[in-house]
Amino acid sequence: MQLWYRSHVVSTELWHADKLSLLFDRAASYQRAIASKTRTAFSDAPESMLTLFYEPSTRTRLSFEAAAQRLGINVLTVADANTSSSAFKGESLEDTARIVSSYADVVVIRHPELGSAARFSRASSVPVINAGDGAGEHPTQSLVDLFTIYQAFGALNGLRVGLCGDLRFGRTIHSLLRLLIGNQCEIVAISPEELALPTEVLAGAPPSSMTFERDLHKALPDLDVLYMTRVQKERFTDPATYERVRNAYELRGQDLSRAKNKLVILHPLPRLSEIATDVDADPRAHYFIQAANGVPVRMALLASILRG
Ligand code: NCD
Repeated sequence: MQLWYRSHVVSTELWHADKLSLLFDRAASYQRAIASKTRTAFSDAPESMLTLFYEPSTRTRLSFEAAAQRLGINVLTVADANTSSSAFKGESLEDTARIVSSYADVVVIRHPELGSAARFSRASSVPVINAGDGAGEHPTQSLVDLFTIYQAFGALNGLRVGLCGDLRFGRTIHSLLRLLIGNQCEIVAISPEELALPTEVLAGAPPSSMTFERDLHKALPDLDVLYMTRVQKERFTDPATYERVRNAYELRGQDLSRAKNKLVILHPLPRLSEIATDVDADPRAHYFIQAANGVPVRMALLASILRG
């Protein structure tokens, strides 16, 4: 009996009892398979990953999806969740988490509120990956950053890393700082006062590992790694402050004559004017390698989470 085969699903009008019970029997057997996690009813079906993005993204979402596809993991995407999901109708993040976590084996979420990924994870029945929670954290970007630094130097211990730009709202900075400190790097925090590291982020860093500098050109000659960031326009409540600091830094090709030969320049991207395009051809520019590393690093993460 193939009552459903290649049929349109437009109206309930013609759904008689036989047709329904056929479908319901099948649904029940999938339900048991999902509950038992054995996948017996669809044993050769791959895992699935759902990306739920309430903020714009190019690299993070696409590299997660590319990573999943290379691993043979199915992908479900909500790219503009703020307007295209039930959030628009006022559904709570917790309710959304309860629902969508029953549709996939892992959920990758980006959301403008600080702490949103943690809230979401408490209501989710499957692993949740934070792809950026407002000005909070962006842990997988930091894995990509650290992997890129590690591959360039072969070690992390003792490297002098300059974090430059929006240290206040830059979530990649907050996540990366913790990893760098944990791996015995020395940090030079380069920012104007308005964009300084938040006290709660700084709290985890031993004072002996931190130096503070306003002037990039002064800090540059001693750095092994320079991590530039975009001033996060979308986080400012006061446009006048943004206007004052938006062009705080611009690294140009000519500045690099004073930098180490082995300097590694990184940027999570997108860049605005903080790195001039004449830096791109310099072998010390590693930000496009860093962006490409998003795929293998996220493949490793997904495989580890889903396959052990
Ligand atoms: C960053 C982000 O979204 O926090 N981008 C990214 O994920 N590579 C940095 C930024 O937007 O400035």
